[in-house]
Amino acid sequence: MKSENEVAQRVETLLGQMSLAEKVAQLAQIGGADWNFGPKAEDIIRERGAGSVLWLNDTKKFNQLQKIAIEESPSGIPVLFALDVIHGYRTIFPIPLAMAASWDPDVPEKSQVVAAKESRAAGIHWTFTPMLDNARDARWGRIAEGAGEDPYLGAAMAAAQVRGLQGEDPTDPERVLACAKHFVGYGASEGGRDYDPVHLSEAQLRNVHLPPFQAAVEAGVATFMSAYMDMNNVPANANRWLLTNVLRDEWGFDGFVVSDAFGVGNLVVQGHARDGRDAALRSLKAGLNMDMASSTYLENLDGLVEDGTLSGEQVDAMVRPILAAKIRMGLFEQPYVDEALLEQVAALPEHRQTARWSAQRSMVLLKNEGGLLPLSTEQQNIAIIGPLANSMEATEGSWMVFGHQPAAVTVLAGIQAKLPGANIAYAPGPDINRDVPHPFGEFNLSERKPIQTAEEAEVAFQTAVATAKDADLVIMVMGEKADMSGEFASRGSLDLPGRQEELLKVVSAMGKPIVLVLLNGRPLSINWAAEQIPAILEAWQPGTEGGHAVADILFGDVNPGGKLPACFPRSGTHAPLYYARTLTHLPEDNPRYRSRYWDGPTTPLYPFGFGLSYTTFAFSNLQVSAPQVKVGDSVTVSVDVTNSGQVAGDEVVQLYIHQKWGSDSRPMRELKGFERVTLQPGQTKTMTFNLGPDELRYWSTNVGQWIQDAAVFDIWVGADSLATLHADLEVVE
Ligand code: NOJ
Repeated sequence: MKSENEVAQRVETLLGQMSLAEKVAQLAQIGGADWNFGPKAEDIIRERGAGSVLWLNDTKKFNQLQKIAIEESPSGIPVLFALDVIHGYRTIFPIPLAMAASWDPDVPEKSQVVAAKESRAAGIHWTFTPMLDNARDARWGRIAEGAGEDPYLGAAMAAAQVRGLQGEDPTDPERVLACAKHFVGYGASEGGRDYDPVHLSEAQLRNVHLPPFQAAVEAGVATFMSAYMDMNNVPANANRWLLTNVLRDEWGFDGFVVSDAFGVGNLVVQGHARDGRDAALRSLKAGLNMDMASSTYLENLDGLVEDGTLSGEQVDAMVRPILAAKIRMGLFEQPYVDEALLEQVAALPEHRQTARWSAQRSMVLLKNEGGLLPLSTEQQNIAIIGPLANSMEATEGSWMVFGHQPAAVTVLAGIQAKLPGANIAYAPGPDINRDVPHPFGEFNLSERKPIQTAEEAEVAFQTAVATAKDADLVIMVMGEKADMSGEFASRGSLDLPGRQEELLKVVSAMGKPIVLVLLNGRPLSINWAAEQIPAILEAWQPGTEGGHAVADILFGDVNPGGKLPACFPRSGTHAPLYYARTLTHLPEDNPRYRSRYWDGPTTPLYPFGFGLSYTTFAFSNLQVSAPQVKVGDSVTVSVDVTNSGQVAGDEVVQLYIHQKWGSDSRPMRELKGFERVTLQPGQTKTMTFNLGPDELRYWSTNVGQWIQDAAVFDIWVGADSLATLHADLEVVE
């Protein structure tokens, strides 16, 4: 590893050799795809080099472009190849929302270790992961890419992903640079509509949206990506308060920031900049190092320096961290990739094992009436029904890298493999489709299927009904297709799309044992199913080994232990909905004035932190080490958790607090500790958590800074955000 002194010296030496045009080129990330708009990547690289190339997934081409950068560009500075490897490169892991549902930071960490190894073997140096946007509105499609609604859980998952992707040693040839995105507030877009404006108070930003990003900085994340939308009327891609004041001055981040794609150029479209020149100036002055794909820096920065609007030093300051990242990771010494490596690495059996483990740990058992699950492996006559039961795409989820061939074990294949001798019938029922096609649909050949006519859909419906009639047990696999969540995938309703619920109702009326397996990238308002279907497993989009993991759980080889990282609203119209709201003058437990809507309850269908197991757990003996402490001091909270059932299982012990009064109103509950534990039947473990200034402080609107109030706190510990085991803690001056 190089010392920071060495890195800094080398940066200055390079800067001393570079022309202005070359420096500006280091601030550009250029599209390498065939469809890319603007000049060809190789021409730019040959003429002046480039900071980075994205949207290229071709190992040979990486080496060719790198050769041009090193041998033909004036200063021979190597290029960083970047790609969206979100939850796996070849081996696909559960989507990030699902990994957060494991409540086990080892799950995203170990998964991202594999993703990094495969990506690096393909020649990728930098991935645009992790997405750390807090999402409290399930209509927003990109909730799939993050850790859900909670900043504390989000911060733990953020740090874990950074550790997994980057490792400890920046020169590790099996790791990649991570990118904390989208800085910040993107998940709070109005109405859950992708890219729409965001208005957040400083208190909401600091207490809810910034913590996962700060955790990523503390974990050593190398890069940040700024968000697209207007944050309090200033686009995040040109927001100096965010990119300089908070990120660099307060947090001491010393890596570099890339815009989101075309974000600098789009400042004009967004109504913020007069033209490209103005856009480049605003972003650079805000502290944005690299322009992703818009060519606005490339086209305008030289001129801005030449006419004296910007100083050479302002440009140098933006280039430094980019060169430093390249030097730190040893790119100058190892610019090329061994073209035979990827196939060896991707074939490693432990990658699939990790994917199966990750998927098992991510699934959440939502309902299990009468102990229908686990199913007996003696089951001989099973119908598997639903449009997603045999869909590799829906099993893998959104964000596959360019050229990825879907290769997931589907739920159908997983159950067939588990029960090789059984009679398993399959019928998909009617297809489900987006009303507005996905703009990237044209790139996704495997999803390009002609839309069913109403007649074809009806035949498919009746075939599914007939198939279910012949079975002794029905497993329905339903939810949303891969392109129904993610970017460009917000929706107004959270209901099961298409005719899925109708099919569920007809099959359920047959009175057979029926299990619903959900494949989806967001919370869904499955109200009818929650009432009527005895067993429901939330499998999310579980990745390459997803079908095996589902079968492992349904047939009892694995006991599910995941918990919801976001609440499930009863309707899309209830979003945003989240547990950590502040109280009102008429709290919801008021016996008379309870209602927020007169046309139904506003409580979630399933609360944050919820998930069942094949065993039961009991919590007792909640102890706080002192009933009273001084501001700034810490206490220990301990609780006994016992497996009170018949089989081994995992519980996620969750600690929530509520500050009863203070300078600001505080959320009625806030997660401040959690741990997933495995317990044998009858076994008890004592879990301890620390509560100190880090957990008890908050950013106060009234005071305008971080404070810790003297007040009484409620403490609850239990299995979800409705935990009832309670103690008080008094904090005094
Ligand atoms: C736009 C998306 O918002 C971002 O998440 C992604 O990393 C970039 N495009 C690059 O593909």
